[in-house]
Amino acid sequence: MRILITGGAGFIGSNFVRLMFNTYKDYSIINLDALTYAGNLENLKDIVEQVGDSKDRYEFIRGDIADAELVDSLLKTGVDAIVNFAAESHVDRSIDSSKIFVDTNVLGTQVLLDAALKHKVSRYVQISTDEVYGSLGPTGLFSETTPLAPNSPYSASKTSADLFVRAYYETYGMQTLITRCSNNYGPYQFPEKLIPLFITNALADQQLPLYGDGLNVRDWIFVTDHCAAIDKVLHHGKAGQVYNIGGNCEKTNKEITYTILEALGKPESLIKRVKDRPGHDRRYAIDSSKIERELQWTRQYDFAAGMKETVEWYVKNEDCWKRIKTGEYVQFYQRWYGDRVG
Ligand code: NAD
Ligand code: TYD
Repeated sequence: MRILITGGAGFIGSNFVRLMFNTYKDYSIINLDALTYAGNLENLKDIVEQVGDSKDRYEFIRGDIADAELVDSLLKTGVDAIVNFAAESHVDRSIDSSKIFVDTNVLGTQVLLDAALKHKVSRYVQISTDEVYGSLGPTGLFSETTPLAPNSPYSASKTSADLFVRAYYETYGMQTLITRCSNNYGPYQFPEKLIPLFITNALADQQLPLYGDGLNVRDWIFVTDHCAAIDKVLHHGKAGQVYNIGGNCEKTNKEITYTILEALGKPESLIKRVKDRPGHDRRYAIDSSKIERELQWTRQYDFAAGMKETVEWYVKNEDCWKRIKTGEYVQFYQRWYGDRVG
């Protein structure tokens, strides 16, 4: 199989490229990634070292998924499946400025779909998010039939993309599938999301900016469990279907914060309460029974094992994230926290 993985230099995409590379020795992987602030080729150093100059099993192309000419030229070479991870993925950045979220997440998806249709790609998997369902109250779970009710510009863009994917199945009979996963954590995550931001800040004895009352709940899944679920959907999922993927692991942000402080032996005084995120979804929790039942997917990691591996990875890879936390990264945080502290 020749497979186009977009956004493969990002957090989940790079973990998925690694899974495909190690599991399917006869697959040829094309990784199309624009290398935005969140893309990092160091995430795939181990694979590049293995393949050397050969492009038979793995090839990296730097480019934008919204570049129709480029995508067309890639698909012309014969691609059997597309897995689309490429996205602007951070809610806070979407609140700061949302246009790029439409350009990549909506327009980029439409460009991929059009090219896939033209070149008769046999399978298209869209990596979506549970955030398309909006926010839960204290009880209940998101199922695949929960109405779409996005609240942030990020989730609005992901929802729009999902609707295009659905439309291409309904209108053209394209073999599209959608996965909607809860919050991921693990190695290679860009230090802007809660867990890697707080681990790396704590390691540097910097403050941990906890939004609002710290009681918002997320359902945490270790990234390789998510990737294994996508593998199941790619190979065995039913076209036209949505599959929810969750960690069955609800935690408040406060609980996450204390877990990190404890793991690193850092003081509570690092916690800094900051003004809440606007439109902050209160709770996410996923019902994963469909993918468990229909595709026999199971999780390998519990939270303790996943967090241990994650914390160890950031401790060991300090050089990598210290290099990231400069330049544009610092400028964003100065702007973002400037009017949020207090
Ligand atoms: P990430 O921000 O770490 O990586 C995104 C990657 O996409 C980067 O390598 C970036 O360079 C690339 N990219 C961005 N714009 C591009 C463009 N126009 N063309 C080509 N490449 C582009 O994101 P992530 O956390 O790995 O998320 C991957 C996907 O999974 C996203 O679609 C996201 O919505 C979805 N998702 C993420 C989570 C999570 O907890 N992180 C949960 C559920 C779903
Ligand atoms: P995040 O990792 O941005 O994921 P998402 O908003 O997509 O779920 O945030 C996870 C939770 O952590 C969310 O409730 C917001 C909160 N949070 C903070 O309290 N402080 C922070 O600096 C960040 C980035 C997030």
